[in-house]
Amino acid sequence: MTKNYDLVVIGGGPAGYAAALYGSAAGLEVAIVEENKIGGTCLHVGCIPAKELLETASVLRSVRQAKDFGIETSKEPVVDLAISQNRKQTVIDELFAGLNSLLAGREVTIYSGTGLLSANRKIEIQKNDETEMIQGTNVLLATGSTPRTIQGFEIDGKTVMTSDEFLSIEQIPDRVAVIGGGAIGCEFASLLNDLGSSVTLLESLNEILPGCDKDVSTAVRRSFVKKGIDIQTGVQVEGHEGDAKKTTVSWSDEGEGNQLEVDLVVVAVGRKPNGHAAGLHDTEVVVDEKGFIEVDERLRTKEKGVWAAGDVINTPQLAHVGFAEGIFVVKEILEESPIAIDPSTVPWCIYCDPEVAFAGLTEESAKAAGYQVTISKHRYSGNGRAMIIGETEGLVKVIAETDESGKAGRILGVHMAGPWVTEQLGQAYLAVNLETTVDEIANLIQAHPTLSELFGETVMSLTGRPLHG
Ligand code: NAI
Repeated sequence: MTKNYDLVVIGGGPAGYAAALYGSAAGLEVAIVEENKIGGTCLHVGCIPAKELLETASVLRSVRQAKDFGIETSKEPVVDLAISQNRKQTVIDELFAGLNSLLAGREVTIYSGTGLLSANRKIEIQKNDETEMIQGTNVLLATGSTPRTIQGFEIDGKTVMTSDEFLSIEQIPDRVAVIGGGAIGCEFASLLNDLGSSVTLLESLNEILPGCDKDVSTAVRRSFVKKGIDIQTGVQVEGHEGDAKKTTVSWSDEGEGNQLEVDLVVVAVGRKPNGHAAGLHDTEVVVDEKGFIEVDERLRTKEKGVWAAGDVINTPQLAHVGFAEGIFVVKEILEESPIAIDPSTVPWCIYCDPEVAFAGLTEESAKAAGYQVTISKHRYSGNGRAMIIGETEGLVKVIAETDESGKAGRILGVHMAGPWVTEQLGQAYLAVNLETTVDEIANLIQAHPTLSELFGETVMSLTGRPLHG
C-alpha cells in the first residue's frame, strides 16, 4: 500500500525544511524528498559559505587596520585560502549534521531521490533505477532555483564560474570580471577585492544593487570605487575568448567596445526557478514562462492540496523568506488563517563591505505608490561607536509618510549601508512591519554608544527635533 503523509515536501532547502520542522512540531506526519543534500542552496552553495568566506575578508581588514589601534603585526597578513575553505566546510558540516538530527528528532522521514508529483498528490521517488511511491494529504513544492547563465559564457568551472563553483575556489585569482552588480555580484566583488584580486564589476543597468534605495547603492558604489573596484555600469557583455588559464572578456559601453584579460569570470546575473523539477504531469500546477510556479496569496497552486514556497515562486529569493513561506503553508494546512506575507516589507541583508540592510519602501517606490514622504538621513561618520571601530562609511535613511498636518508619521522604509547593518536591521524591520510612527520610535531609548543608535537619531530628526545631527 502507498504510504500517506499529512505533508510531503519536495525539496529540502530553507522553505522545505522549515515546513518540515514546523509541521512536525505542530503534530503533522511529514516526509521530505531531496535529490541532493538537505539544506539546499543556502547551506551548501549560497548564504552560509558566502558569508563564511566574507568573514575571512572581514578578519583580514581588521588585521590590516591593526596598526591604527597601536597593534604591531610584524608583516603583511597573508591569506591561506585552503584553511579558510576548510573552516567554511566545517561550518557547513556542523550545520548540516545539526539539521539532520533536528529532522530525525522530529521524526521527519527523509527520502533520498527525485520526487515527481502526479495526480492525487502521488509522488514517485526516483533514485538510480529504483522507484518508490508515496502520497501526501498535502504537498509542498520547494524545488528552489539555480544560477542563471548568459549566452557567450559557458560555465567551465575554470575561467567561468557561477556562485556554485566560485564558493569552492582554491586560489585567489589576480584579475576577475564579475558580471552582475546585484547582491551576489557585490558580495563577490567585495570579497575578491579584500583578498587582493583586481576586480571589474560589469552591470547592464545604470546602477549597481538595483532594488536598493539610491542613497544606499550610491554609498556602496563610492566605497567600492575607493577600495579600487572598477565599476562599469550600463554595459552589454558580449562574450569571452581564452584558454583554461585566462580569458579576455568583451563588452560594449554606449556602442564602444572594451576588452579585459582576466583569470576568472564570475557570472552573477540572477537565479532561475526550478519550476519543472518535480515533474507535475497530470496536475493543474501552472509554471509561468520564467519558470516560477504560480501561486495565489495563500501560496496555493492550482492543484488542490498542493502549495509552493521559496525560490521556485515569484517572491524575494531569500532564505528567510523561504523559512517564512514554509511556516505559512503549515499554518494554512492547519487552517490557522496566517497573515499573508507582504514581499515589500521583508528584511534584506547584503554582506559586502560596506554591508547593506533594509526593510520597506525605498524613497522612489514610496513616491511611486503615491505617498507624500518626509526623509531623514544620518551618516555613520558622526556616530561614536563607528569612530571607535574605525568604520565610518555609510548611512541610515528613514522614509516616513507625511501626515495631513505635514508631520512625519508612519515609518514606511529604513535603508542602511555601513558597519554591521545586517545585525542592526532588527528594530528597523519591526518599526516598518508593526506600522509604527516616528513619534513612537523617537520615544524609545537607544543604548549608547552603539551603531544602532544612528537609527534612533535618524527617526528623532523626523520629529522636527534632532539630537546630535
Ligand atoms: P540579482 O537579480 O540580485 O542581480 C543580478 C544583477 O545582474 C542585476 O543587477 C542585473 O541587472 C544584472 N545583470 C543581468 N544580466 C546581466 C548581463 N547580461 N550583464 C550584466 N549584468 C547583468 O541576482 P543575484 O545577485 O545573482 O542574486 C540572485 C538572488 O539571490 C537574488 O534574488 C538575490 O537577492 C538573492 N541573494 C541575496 C543575497 C543577500 O540577500 N545577501 C545574497 C545572494 C543572493
